[in-house]
Formats: sequence, C-alpha cells, structure tokens
Amino acid sequence: MNSLVDQISRLRVHFIKELQEAVSSKDIENLKLKYLGKKGSIQALMLELKNCSSEERPHFGKLINDLKEEFVSHCENSLARLKNQEMAIQFEKEWIDPTLPGRSPFLGREHPINQMLHRIVDILIGMGFSVQLGPDVDSDYYNFEGLNFAPDHPARDMQDTFYFGENLLLRTHTSNVQVHAMENFTPPLRIVAPGRAFRNEDISARSHVFFHQIEGFYIDKHVTFGDLLSTMEEFLSKLLGGRAEVRFRPSYFPFVEPGMEVDVRCTACKGSGCRICKHTGWLEILGTGMIHPNVLKRGNIDPEIYSGYAWGMGIERLAMLQFDIPDIRLFTENDMRFLSQFP
Ligand code: PHE
Repeated sequence: MNSLVDQISRLRVHFIKELQEAVSSKDIENLKLKYLGKKGSIQALMLELKNCSSEERPHFGKLINDLKEEFVSHCENSLARLKNQEMAIQFEKEWIDPTLPGRSPFLGREHPINQMLHRIVDILIGMGFSVQLGPDVDSDYYNFEGLNFAPDHPARDMQDTFYFGENLLLRTHTSNVQVHAMENFTPPLRIVAPGRAFRNEDISARSHVFFHQIEGFYIDKHVTFGDLLSTMEEFLSKLLGGRAEVRFRPSYFPFVEPGMEVDVRCTACKGSGCRICKHTGWLEILGTGMIHPNVLKRGNIDPEIYSGYAWGMGIERLAMLQFDIPDIRLFTENDMRFLSQFP
C-alpha cells in the first residue's frame, strides 16, 4: 500500500502550500472544510482504508489520524494568529477615546418670562398662596362687569381688547380669576393666578398686545388694609432682595376701594434718577387695593363678614428690570441670540 503513503505525503504538501497562502481567517475556515470536513480529503483517505489488509489497516489508520491531528493543530494556530491580526486592524479602525468628554445634548431653557413668573409664584406659594389658572378667552362679565366695571364706565377705555362677537373677549388682566374663584370656592381664599393678558394697544418698546400678569388675592374675615401693606412689603422684599423701599400712591381701579399703585425705589439707580425710572427714582410695579364690596357681593360673599385685598402685576415689566432688557418686543420674537442669554 505504498500508494496510500504517497497520497498522505502529497496531501501534506498540498495542505502546507495552501496553509501558507492563506491570508485571512476565512481562508483557514475554507481550508478546514476542504481537508477536515465530512467530505474532505482526510475523510476520503479514511475510506481508502477498506482496501488495506487487516494487518496493514491499524498502521495506515494511525498515519491518517496523525495527519489529521497535524492539520487540525496547523489550522488552529493559523486561525488564532489571523483572528488576532484581524481584530487588531478592526480596533485600529474603530478606535475611540473613552477619555474624551461626551457630547451633551442640546437642552432647551426656560423663557425669561417664565423664569420670572416661576420665581414670583414660588415666593407666593411660600407665603401661603395657592395657584389657580383662569381662561384667556372669557366673557365680558368675568373680565369687566363682575369686577364692577359699569357698561359705559370710562375705565373700560383704558383696557380695550380683542372681541369674539358681542360677549367673548381676550381678557385684559388676570383679575377675571378673582370672579371665577369667588364663584367656585368659599373663603378663606388665598390665591395667586399667573397667566397671559391682552390689550388693544399700539406695539412699542414698552407695550405690547399680549403680555403676562400675576394676580394675587386674599379673602377672609378681618382682612385689613394693614395686612395688604405688610404683605406687599414682605413680598416685594423677597422678590427684589433686601429691604425694598416701597411707596403706595392712590389710584383707581373699579374693583378695589381704596385703590393704589405701588412703586419701588428704582433698582437701577437706587433712587438718584435714571433713564429707566424716567428720573423719578421710583418704578411703578403693581396695582392693588381692598376688594370692592360690590365685587364680593357678586361673588356671593357677604362684605359685612368678609374682606380682602388683591393685587396685579405685569411680568414683562419686572423681567425687563431684572435682566436689563430695553424692548418688550424681544420676548416674543423668538430670536435665539436673545433667548440663549438667560441660562
Ligand atoms: N388688573 C389691574 C390691571 O391690570 C391690576 C390690579 C389687580 C389692580 C388687582 C388692583 C387689584 O391694571
């Protein structure tokens, strides 16, 4: 059976040659299939064994088995070596630097109006008020009549707005929440109502057709004018920092009696007079007063038993002071160069 010996050595020569030519793990896998697979060359040699005599068979069997083991170990070595190489190349290509700082996603930020609004609401929640929202579109009753604006009263002219037909309108102030709250709850009421307000005004650096207000009111037994003064002083000190110097001036709103406007010492010039306070040293900041008995009555609250105070303030005004913004129109122009300045 010399021919079997020949076949073995020829097969080895072929295998070694192909092994040396293999350049990838894929080549080795193919080689394994070709020589060691079920239909491979080694298996073919095994089949030849049946032509050997029974004395020769163990000897040739062993030769073939040794050859097989030789092939297996060659394949495994090459496979390991080539796989390492391939991995090294892949790592080189897909190299990342884990020490680089991550890319942070773009986070939106709160609009300066909302920043101001939330600061004020937080302070008032801390003083015992709770938040109620009212509708932007409301009836004449809630915006005017329920607040003691007689149908032809000239005070209406100061708050012209946009109408949907006869009766529905865009609210001119957040004071409509007072009327809704009195209808829906019984005293004691201690409410703060932030939201949008609208007026038919010429748009300029100082006024716009839409803006924001915060309304606050407190109704209970024995609420006095002294309570109003001390609450305003406390609130404005918290809002403006330190001891804000506050001035109360008589003013007129149909839904309060007496009515006042509150000024604070100009935050920009500390009272010496500047462009921002129009050289008066004072900034007008809110309207307030004791809730008019007619308003309480309309809200089914007996003014002989209950009394209350209310105030309302514009947010844009405060934000302009706080952030030194010269033009109210900037708030609604959606210019990222402006908006991104308020972290
Ligand atoms: N609603 C008034 C305004 O918009 C402000 C105000 C509120 C005055 C509450 C007194 C009491 O001008």
